[in-house]
Amino acid sequence: MGDDLPFPFLLSATSSPSPVSSQPSPPTEAPLPLARPSLTDHERERVLEVLHSEQLSRGPYLEAFEDAMAERCGTEHAVAVSSGTGALHCIVRALDLPAGAEVITTPFSFVASSNVLLYEDLRPRYVDITPSTYNLDVDRVADAITPETEAILAVDVFGVPVDWPLLRTLADEHDLQLIDDACEAIGASVGGCPIGGWGDAASFGFYPNKQITTGEGGCITTNDAALARRCRAFRNQGRAGNGRMQHDRLGYNYRLDEMSAALGFAQLERLDALLDRRAAVADRYHDALAPLAEDVARPGWPAEAERSWFVYVVRLRDHFADDARDQLMVHLQDHGIECAPYFPPIHLQPYYRDRFGFAPGDFPVCERISARTLALPFYDTMTRADVDRVAKTLTAALPSLPRR
Ligand SMILES: Cc1ncc(COP(=O)(O)O)c(C=O)c1O
Repeated sequence: MGDDLPFPFLLSATSSPSPVSSQPSPPTEAPLPLARPSLTDHERERVLEVLHSEQLSRGPYLEAFEDAMAERCGTEHAVAVSSGTGALHCIVRALDLPAGAEVITTPFSFVASSNVLLYEDLRPRYVDITPSTYNLDVDRVADAITPETEAILAVDVFGVPVDWPLLRTLADEHDLQLIDDACEAIGASVGGCPIGGWGDAASFGFYPNKQITTGEGGCITTNDAALARRCRAFRNQGRAGNGRMQHDRLGYNYRLDEMSAALGFAQLERLDALLDRRAAVADRYHDALAPLAEDVARPGWPAEAERSWFVYVVRLRDHFADDARDQLMVHLQDHGIECAPYFPPIHLQPYYRDRFGFAPGDFPVCERISARTLALPFYDTMTRADVDRVAKTLTAALPSLPRR
């Protein structure tokens, strides 16, 4: 999720003492990271095999990874690229929307899902989220459509699918393009249909905090052959075809290297096993946090949807004061437990406020949820003892947190 730090939202445990913590963990307790990639020797060997082959880019693993992604997502095409942001940018670029057009999207996401619109001089038209899933409130989308609206870009936040059947119907009725930012949702599905094929195109991200990783990397999935062709051209400097020095359009370098593709191919083979283990860790958290239900909530997901566990996010209920979440984060960090405030509202990011004049109160549900959510350590190898330690530390902090 960032360039310079592995997990940029981490608060520094040493920056300020926690107002609610007096007893940091003894040094014998190892820090619990927010996320941790899961790598096997087999996966390392695949990468080494590429290094020995000396074909470090545009080799057989790129194609194999793309084929496996298309199969997994039930789409005709997959185009692997160097990041989730690159995948989204290629999609938006390939849809060729007119400059200045509006794209309906969510303010509760990682900033990349809106940034890619600005790359192409498009205007994000935010629609607030539902407090039950933290996803775009699809019931409000129809009212937000104007004559300038050209597309909807929905995000499967934290791996919880958006109401895709309803969005698909709306997009068809209003002749809008439909983009799925599925960077956090690989392996999720709605009504048995995998995420990746619901929109005109979907993006996936494989940063090391994701369910599977390629280091840096991403992928586009689509059933539209022409769109896939344009994405392939954009990722490779606008080339007309692979390997030729003819550039039909303005392109970029979003190529995924062969080591990353080999890792992605091997990780994808283990996706189901990894998702099962993440779901088991999530179950452990549900059990451990169940006694705190009056103070701590967690987002749900629609009954017909199969979510893919990306992060484990909890929310302090509304009787806590606005600064309680940040105090809780410092307390957890002081005890060696990394956590992150996923997600700050995009419309209140300084750049977006300056450029578009957004202000607090514009999207109240998003703002209320954003102020109270935090992601806890979450990865497939977390033990019951790890989860219990997080729950115990969180429980100890709650009585001292400020209330309204
Ligand atoms: C919802 C969402 N969209 C886009 C991205 C961008 O992906 P990347 O960091 O691979 O560019 C991320 C990454 O975390 C994400 O969570």
